Amino acid sequence: MLQPVSLLIGLLCLSQVADVRGFARLMEDVELRSAFSVARTSSMEGGPKMTVTFDMTYVNIGGDFDPKAGTFHCRIPGAYYFSFTVGKFPHKDLSVMLMKNRNEVQAIVYEENAGEERKMQSQSVMLQLEFGDTVWLRLHGDPRYALYSNTGHYTTFNGYLIYPDVYDYQTHHHQHQPPYNSQQPQSNNVQLLNSKKATDEDKTESHGASQDVNLQQRQEEEEDEEKEDEEEDQRSAFSVGRTESILGVDQEGLPQHQPVSFDTGFVNIGEDFNMTEGMFTCRIPGAYYFSFNVGKLPQKTLSVKLMKNRLEVQAMIYDDSQGEKALQSQSLMLSLKPGDTVWLYSHQKDGFGAYSNHAKYITFTGFLVYPDFPTSNSQSYEHKKP
Ligand SMILES: *[C@@H]1O[C@H](CO)[C@@H](O)[C@H](O)[C@H]1NC(C)=O
Repeated sequence: MLQPVSLLIGLLCLSQVADVRGFARLMEDVELRSAFSVARTSSMEGGPKMTVTFDMTYVNIGGDFDPKAGTFHCRIPGAYYFSFTVGKFPHKDLSVMLMKNRNEVQAIVYEENAGEERKMQSQSVMLQLEFGDTVWLRLHGDPRYALYSNTGHYTTFNGYLIYPDVYDYQTHHHQHQPPYNSQQPQSNNVQLLNSKKATDEDKTESHGASQDVNLQQRQEEEEDEEKEDEEEDQRSAFSVGRTESILGVDQEGLPQHQPVSFDTGFVNIGEDFNMTEGMFTCRIPGAYYFSFNVGKLPQKTLSVKLMKNRLEVQAMIYDDSQGEKALQSQSLMLSLKPGDTVWLYSHQKDGFGAYSNHAKYITFTGFLVYPDFPTSNSQSYEHKKP
């Protein structure tokens, strides 16, 4: 009589290693999900309790966001994209920071303009998170500050997992179990892979004398797997911040059209972004999402463009109001070929400029959404079939 377990092992024996790995990846696509989107339907004034909480939940896949506490808890290590929009309260200043853990400021929205208008400010950034990291929004503690919302849901907060650290996890799954919590559906994969490993070991034992050879073979296989993982790494993502303002000056012998450079790296998966140059160079052809946020300098016109290659303007931010420091945001997707470059350009003339400081008003993020070719999964799957 076949027991269900031996049936499973039997099925696994029939399949190739590649099939199991393909299956494991498929499972990961389904299981390694984390996303939240929430809104707040009331205003909030600066005070001792500075965490912005939420009372509307649109999406909470994985249950990693606690709306009442206002905190996202990282369960799956990886690179996450966060974005938030907050309303400015009439006659109050606005200052809301995206925080990591207890007190690591990641990015900010800010408006120092206690006018009577209501306005929106947005910011977005990608963060590399470890298991147990928390991400939340902090309103400035002084009652001079407030954020505005009402049943119109002015204030929103979103985050989702772009790239789980699965490559690392897959390469090393034989050695360590990842620090996921045990309730995670993920553990199914681990069990599956462990049972596969168990059958390998059974085989090894039954061939007694050739154990060393088998061991060596397995090590070689693992090394091959690691190499393949590197080749197949179809991931590309960057997120950077700038802590200094940009001041336009009339050009006299200065190089023209200098990209905005950055000094803070949040994420640089694939190393496709050069911070000193301020330039992203496409390695994997496909559709990419880009977003950027820039602060306005008082008395200066804000004009920042998203450029492709030499001088192809793709999108821009513009603000020639007389207002004080405030943020402007823009985002779009581009279809890129290998070698295409994407960068930000701030108008290099007197009277133009962009504001930032240590709280990182100026941020720039981009990541691969869909590569152009069938994913490496299906390719390698076909390739390895006997
Ligand atoms: C970034 O660009 C600068 C200037 O072109 C270059 O010197 C540097 O080596 C580049 N950095 C990386 C990591 O490629």
